Amino acid sequence: MTHSIISLKNISVSYDGEQVLKGFNLDIHDGEFVTLLGPSGCGKTTVLRTIAGFVTPEAGDVFFNETKINDLPPHKRELNTIFQKYALFPHLNVYDNIAFGMRIKRKKESEVKKTVVELLELVNLSGYAHRGIAQLSGGQQQRVAIARALANEPKILLLDEPLGALDLKLRKDMQVQLKEIQQQTGITFIFVTHDQEEALSMSDTVVVMDGGEIQQIGTPIDIYNEPKNAFVADFIGESNILDGLMLEDFKVRFAGHLFPCLDKGFSKNTPVDVVIRPEDITFVPQDASHIKGEVTNVTFKGVHYEIIVDVDGFKWMIQSTAYQAIGEKIGLSILPDAIHVMEKSDYSGTFGDYSTFSDEMEEDMILEEEAELEDENEV
Ligand SMILES: Nc1ncnc2c1ncn2[C@@H]1O[C@H](COP(=O)(O)OP(=O)(O)O)[C@@H](O)[C@H]1O
Ligand SMILES: [Mg+2]
Repeated sequence: MTHSIISLKNISVSYDGEQVLKGFNLDIHDGEFVTLLGPSGCGKTTVLRTIAGFVTPEAGDVFFNETKINDLPPHKRELNTIFQKYALFPHLNVYDNIAFGMRIKRKKESEVKKTVVELLELVNLSGYAHRGIAQLSGGQQQRVAIARALANEPKILLLDEPLGALDLKLRKDMQVQLKEIQQQTGITFIFVTHDQEEALSMSDTVVVMDGGEIQQIGTPIDIYNEPKNAFVADFIGESNILDGLMLEDFKVRFAGHLFPCLDKGFSKNTPVDVVIRPEDITFVPQDASHIKGEVTNVTFKGVHYEIIVDVDGFKWMIQSTAYQAIGEKIGLSILPDAIHVMEKSDYSGTFGDYSTFSDEMEEDMILEEEAELEDENEV
């Protein structure tokens, strides 16, 4: 394992008496693509600004390559930040934008040229050197901003939701390019997003945050396959989350039945959360399963159908390439490796049936709100 290039130790930050980070700890390894992922307001930008030196924590230490840098001003830290707004110099062309920092440092013009040409190639903009900034698309401007940041030879690049303003297709394209740039340069990237798909597809390590706290750190595959609590399970992809009882090793009870599973190490009869991904459930005839229900909703999603099955009032979400008609009476088959057992947490029970972010739930919530409004109006 490489050493930590950044270490945050027990960092506390408050705004107007409201604590945003409380005893926050994070180690980032040299050369990693790390993503801070979490809902809006969970403290991601605050973590980045603490690393960059724009926020002075009221407690805790920031280490860079094992040296404490609490008192080092931002411009002396060997890192650069890229924001959603690129802040390029509009009156300078692409070449001069990228060369700007090197010229301030009074580098030789021959050296400047060599670096700019290399960087233009790296960000796929060779041939654009003499374009004006206004003549570039959003994605191209973004790449100029990246080249300009890299020209300063930072050890770390901080990227705060840099792709947020781009449309979906361009965004996907830039995700691939950013990842390539990171791999080619070997520079540590600390990337912030609230988009779970973006985090999973780009990162070596994902840091899932909520309420100023780290909920889980791991590789994208670990985070997806082994969520630590109901928040992570719900935030990363769609999930069916049920109350369960871990009877003993490899035996869990939920939905009124006993299931064999792969989990162990809980004490006997421990209440747990059980997470089952929609793509891990298959349909069988009703008499072949304990879990019997009725299809209440079918949505075509391109690669698969998203099918809602009502089982005794609990709505399961299943993703399947097999079409099922609304009203169909059907059984659900769940194999041991599809069952993920998690300890109860503060988040237990806060997620209803399947994912809170699903369309059907949203519709239900809107209907409920409308009903409440009507009630109020009647009083
Ligand atoms: N300069 C500030 N003054 C007051 N409150 C702030 C300031 N910056 C952030 N906050 C608050 O701190 C919390 C975390 O913010 P932030 O780190 O920007 O979250 P994120 O980037 O995850 O959306 C939010 O509740 C936000 O309103
Ligand atoms: Mg932010």
